[in-house]
Amino acid sequence: MFKNLQNKTVLVTGGAGFIGSNLCEILLTNNVNTICLDNFSTGKKENISPFLNNPNFLLIEGDIRNLQDCHKACKGVDYVLHEAALGSVPRSINDPITTNDVNVSGFLNMLVAARDAKVQRFVYAASSSTYGDHEALPKVEDVIGKPLSPYAITKYVNELYADIFSSTYNLETIGLRYFNVFGKRQDPNGAYAAVIPKFVQQYINHESPVINGDGSYSRDFTYIDNVVQMNIKALTTDNKNALNTVYNVAYGERTTLIELATLLKNYLSEFDKDINTIEIKYRDNRVGDIPHSLASIDKAKKLLNYNPEFDISNGLKEAVTWYWDNLK
Ligand SMILES: NC(=O)c1ccc[n+]([C@@H]2O[C@H](COP(=O)([O-])OP(=O)(O)OC[C@H]3O[C@@H](n4cnc5c(N)ncnc54)[C@H](O)[C@@H]3O)[C@@H](O)[C@H]2O)c1
Repeated sequence: MFKNLQNKTVLVTGGAGFIGSNLCEILLTNNVNTICLDNFSTGKKENISPFLNNPNFLLIEGDIRNLQDCHKACKGVDYVLHEAALGSVPRSINDPITTNDVNVSGFLNMLVAARDAKVQRFVYAASSSTYGDHEALPKVEDVIGKPLSPYAITKYVNELYADIFSSTYNLETIGLRYFNVFGKRQDPNGAYAAVIPKFVQQYINHESPVINGDGSYSRDFTYIDNVVQMNIKALTTDNKNALNTVYNVAYGERTTLIELATLLKNYLSEFDKDINTIEIKYRDNRVGDIPHSLASIDKAKKLLNYNPEFDISNGLKEAVTWYWDNLK
């Protein structure tokens, strides 16, 4: 998979974040020149500190809202993996202006800088939130609904801009609609933490995880290694028919919140048997949450040869082991 990347330079924006740092890690492990552009707004220095002494790694501290920073980061770059954004639906509801500045204006800056630097391919983090209020399951790429949050709008606008840059400026683009990604280095802290690291941290602290709703809502939880595989396949594919479009990135199965909380409890109990007695609590549903999410991954399998190796159980076991070693 990495043969097309030898002697190439890949820019990972948001490389100090959860997904970005995992992408930097796999690139560096395979001796690919890797540049990270990050402003550390939600990313952390500790996520990239193991890479700082690697001669193939360059950190550029900068902001995608600043076009000059984007130009600087794109200089001499062959490929971009654009991960920098402000995630979280509730954050976008609380502060739609900053979310739009980063996720839309910052995205456009990166497209312009990539175009000007004659970057070959621009692979970017899209989102399952683009399916909005469309109820059909599983989600197929061509059928989307009305966005349900400012965040969802920004991610949909990204797809529209990428499409225009492909057709107008011949920049090769691929959008990856991630579905609830989890795994090592995902931040468990803060008001906008994702459900899996938050529950893990709560169990480790012997606190009850609190489910929004009755626990019947379900998600297509996707382990980080599947996401990394998809990014590398998108970067390196020779299939011209696979370009300038979007893909679901998921495992293709759904798990309810109660199943998730129970699995986490079982796996963490192997490290600390007292966790087995912790009660799961419930509160009202959160505004804007859709009941169910499940991806069709047929398009990615067919055009990019995507073959997700980790199902939810195997992924959770890996993640829980990492959190136990790093949070405890
Ligand atoms: N984690 C998921 O389940 C999920 C699902 C769908 C889409 N996504 C998308 O994947 C991408 C990565 O998400 P993540 O979970 O790793 O989040 P994260 O918050 O861990 O990483 C985002 C990174 O972007 C950086 N960043 C934010 N604003 C920036 C700016 N103005 N300039 C430069 N850097 C900036 C942050 O400091 C951070 O390092 C995002 O685009 C997100 O919207 C994630």
